[in-house]
Amino acid sequence: MSKPKILVARAIFPEIITYLEQHFEVYSNQTDETWPKAQLIEKLKGMEGAFTTGGDRIDAEVLAACPALRICANMAVGYNNFDIDAMTAAGVLATNAPDVLTETTADFGFALLMATARRISESEHFLRAGKWSKWSFDMFAGADIHGSTLGILGMGRIGQGIARRGAHGFGMRVIYHNRSRLDANLEAECKASYVSKEVLLKTADHLVLVLPYSPSSHHTIGAAELAQMRPTATLVNIARGGIVDDAALAAALREKRIAAAGLDVFEGEPKVHPDLLTVPNVVLTPHIASATVPTRLAMARLAANNLIGFFKDKKPLTPLNPAVLATK
Ligand code: GLV
Repeated sequence: MSKPKILVARAIFPEIITYLEQHFEVYSNQTDETWPKAQLIEKLKGMEGAFTTGGDRIDAEVLAACPALRICANMAVGYNNFDIDAMTAAGVLATNAPDVLTETTADFGFALLMATARRISESEHFLRAGKWSKWSFDMFAGADIHGSTLGILGMGRIGQGIARRGAHGFGMRVIYHNRSRLDANLEAECKASYVSKEVLLKTADHLVLVLPYSPSSHHTIGAAELAQMRPTATLVNIARGGIVDDAALAAALREKRIAAAGLDVFEGEPKVHPDLLTVPNVVLTPHIASATVPTRLAMARLAANNLIGFFKDKKPLTPLNPAVLATK
């Protein structure tokens, strides 16, 4: 029996390609080209499955041009690169890669928060530039983390991981806002109190954004929200570009309306708003929150197992639109 044809849209661990080859006729991209939409469509034509990453947009146009496609397995927990409604309408299953990256990503959120509040990047640049000539009482004096108030916007699994680190590791008071309130046991475990978005913005010393991106979360943090934050506050975005209005944030940082920001994700990435590149009080990282070798391997394996489970017995591990399975 011939094996189903799948496209792996970006370069990935060679052992994952070998693993997939046991089950599929694999078309890979180990030179890691980033294909514009027209080229992605060309490559996807005739494929029954796709192993995608967060940068590969699957929308109605792609689906209409690739009628053989039955599943797209994203190697990311976020899936705003998928038009889920269009996929469901076309009978194409979507899967993502949750859970396996939760703790690694929460570690990174905390690392970025600490680097930002304690001005680690800024001070390192100063040192490397040969500008360190003497001790000064206020040199790179930042904000404390222990004992401060940690605000979390978006209290899914990663948000809860950050809350636990803050509450249990650093004695922080944790407040959060989310579409729905956690149940009492989870709140107690995370030592987190539910507040309105307004109270969150006004009260947090350090505000971490961990909510999913959708058109309704576009510019959740813009000029008006930044104006409500404390002038001493730190803002960290490990969620998605577009949740923060980057131009408004750069202006707020330049005018010291908030103290500092740490950003792992950007509007229109990998391009970064030029104003963010010139303000000193921001730590910038290239979307690496889940980037440890074991976690990236686990994410890739989960995406691969979603493809395998789907083609074997219609049992993908983490389907996003499972209604499609009933109709296939
Ligand atoms: C990374 O951003 C992910 O969604 O996994």
